[in-house]
Amino acid sequence: MANKKIAVLVGSLRKDSFNKKVANEIQKLASPNLELEFLEIGNLVHYNEDLDHENPPQEWTTFRSKIKDADGLLFFTPEYNRGLPSVLKNAIDIASRPYGQNSLAGKPGAVVSVSISALGGFGANHHLRQSMVFVDVPMMQQPEAYIGNAHSLFSENGDLVEDTRAFLKSFIDAYETWVNKF
Ligand SMILES: Cc1cc2nc3c(=O)[nH]c(=O)nc-3n(C[C@H](O)[C@H](O)[C@H](O)COP(=O)(O)O)c2cc1C
Repeated sequence: MANKKIAVLVGSLRKDSFNKKVANEIQKLASPNLELEFLEIGNLVHYNEDLDHENPPQEWTTFRSKIKDADGLLFFTPEYNRGLPSVLKNAIDIASRPYGQNSLAGKPGAVVSVSISALGGFGANHHLRQSMVFVDVPMMQQPEAYIGNAHSLFSENGDLVEDTRAFLKSFIDAYETWVNKF
């Protein structure tokens, strides 16, 4: 029986996204004490503060309440031009508002960046960490997770190479320990 609900945000909308594949692997590797729920972020219209003063879109309200209900936050991000993809930044901005009602605050977080380059999305990983300081999300520091050369990590039938799987297991177990500290 899961006792911690973890909201998962994946910063790629691509059908064959490597970030989605890695997130799915982590879901399989997580202990039964963590319930990972993948949140839809592709349907969130661009943040516009006027909408918060008028009539916020239903998708924003639903998304914010799912974040509020979560005990922790797990981010999976590609790197776009050395930074976060806009779809993920938009989701973070929406969750952080309206002013004074930041639904992210205080939730233990962690990030995995997944890229086809050898750098493993380092820029996006730290770009995300920068925003997490301001929105008051305590981020797990270690292990850091920069998954590079993502296109070479999965076999034709979709199996992940063993050393990456072992690393992801250590990552999600460390994250469980991190969440339990809060
Ligand atoms: C607009 C755009 C910008 C990109 N910029 C970077 C980058 O700065 N660094 C990098 O490692 N990969 C970059 N890439 C390649 C992504 O790592 C690659 O598309 C990856 O597969 C995206 O993750 P996904 O498979 O989860 O969609 C970029 C891709 C796009 C579409």
